[in-house]
Amino acid sequence: MMRAANAVRFEQVSRLYPNGPDFAAALDAVTLEIAPGSFTAIMGPSGSGKSSLLNVAAGLDSPTHGRVVVGDVELAGMSVDDLTRFRRTQVGFVFQAYNLLGHLTVAENIRLPLVLAGRQADPEWQRWLIEAVGLAGLEDRLPSALSGGQAQRVAIARALIARPTVVFADEPTGALDAHTGDQVLEILRSTASQLGQTLVMVTHDARAAAAAERVLFLRDGRLHGQIIDPSVAGISARMLELGARA
Ligand SMILES: Nc1ncnc2c1ncn2[C@@H]1O[C@H](COP(=O)(O)OP(=O)(O)O)[C@@H](O)[C@H]1O
Ligand SMILES: [Mg+2]
Repeated sequence: MMRAANAVRFEQVSRLYPNGPDFAAALDAVTLEIAPGSFTAIMGPSGSGKSSLLNVAAGLDSPTHGRVVVGDVELAGMSVDDLTRFRRTQVGFVFQAYNLLGHLTVAENIRLPLVLAGRQADPEWQRWLIEAVGLAGLEDRLPSALSGGQAQRVAIARALIARPTVVFADEPTGALDAHTGDQVLEILRSTASQLGQTLVMVTHDARAAAAAERVLFLRDGRLHGQIIDPSVAGISARMLELGARA
């Protein structure tokens, strides 16, 4: 199969919410392209539409207007069943709050997307992934017996197990201390990179964003420029211009 030219493409994508007698735009006519295998960071002040952008790209939410294409798949007009199948097989999602199932072990949480999709877990691939995120030996633990960093590494392995086209992460280090956050980010980045996966990450942290190849800036639901090969100083300066609290 030919590889799609873009991992993610937005054409004039808007997401409106009712606001009194009117509408407010969480996303306002956003057009963007994200290259396969790339690592992109999304930044912007609180409320600028970062989570809305990720949710719409991952099929967790639908745009009010516009086209969303992930790999070869056009999301608009998909049936609910097809959209569910798309989410289970084509994208991985890492949330700030881990979102692990408390009654399932580490290994069961990681396998869950395959189980839900009715697919077999290749034991060797699963072992490789658990090793890659540094969870070997913890397979039988329950989430309540994990540290925050370990829990987020389970969530990362779960996001990668179905070999999705794109991995989305919404402030994946937001609940972790700086040192643990750095370790988790490095695991996410290096694992996605070894697997040739596209990574799109929302973060408030200029240092975390500087690990990306490109940073896209949002304000009021609109794209506000980008930095390619970003530096921490360059990102910080742009965030100040956008009016974000440091
Ligand atoms: N379910 C919702 N209902 C109404 N407004 C929402 C909803 N979700 C998000 N919004 C609004 O959309 C805007 C963008 O939100 P969000 O995408 O969560 O921003 P960010 O992730 O950058 O903080 C905000 O003004 C927010 O209040
Ligand atoms: Mg958010």
